[in-house]
Amino acid sequence: MKINYPEGATPLDPDEMEGLKLKHVTRKGELDHLEQANIQSGLVWLSRSREKDILSEAFVRKLHERLFGEVWQWAGSFRRTGKDIGVDPLTIGIELRTLLDDMRYWAAHDTYPEMEAAIRFHHRLVFIHPFPNGNGRHARIMADAVLQKIYGREAIDWSGGHDLQAMNERRREYLVALRTADRGDYDPLFKFVGL
Ligand SMILES: Nc1ncnc2c1ncn2[C@@H]1O[C@H](COP(=O)(O)OP(=O)(O)OP(=O)(O)O)[C@@H](O)[C@H]1O
Ligand SMILES: [Mg+2]
Repeated sequence: MKINYPEGATPLDPDEMEGLKLKHVTRKGELDHLEQANIQSGLVWLSRSREKDILSEAFVRKLHERLFGEVWQWAGSFRRTGKDIGVDPLTIGIELRTLLDDMRYWAAHDTYPEMEAAIRFHHRLVFIHPFPNGNGRHARIMADAVLQKIYGREAIDWSGGHDLQAMNERRREYLVALRTADRGDYDPLFKFVGL
């Protein structure tokens, strides 16, 4: 199956495409639809989950598996290949561990205002890019889980009434903001979520 990716999306390797559980899928629209349905059931799982320790590698992987595991064999497993975005695949575990420890510290010591902490966490998670695909969606949901389950706050309005999966002004702004955050300036990303 040939997929036309929107800008800022990570193309899959042939071996990752292999992991498509539903062999009858031939069109990108169909795949989007199946992923969206899977994500919906993952979100239900997340809202019912009583897991207290969401800042663990096990939970991060479990969430990815719940969001994408009906569609992709490799859901919940770390990436094994290098991509344009993301750390060396060999260092994903250690980088993730550092991020989760930082996030735990920020929450315990009120290092940053709550939304700011969630945004920094989101950016660092997509920057690591732990999985072959679904990193954007997973890291947005993970940041929302931090806000809701750790801080008792509301989730972020990421899409702002647009479709963040498709290429439009909202996604363009999101990607520019992430790239600016790559260089250490978080202001555009804060502004993007209304801070
Ligand atoms: N320069 C960048 N720095 C940090 N993160 C980035 C950068 N460019 C893209 N990203 C993130 O990577 C995501 C794309 O990765 P991937 O394709 O694995 O996720 P996805 O959930 O399938 O994507 P999406 O939901 O955005 O279509 C983007 O949504 C964005 O969050
Ligand atoms: Mg993608």
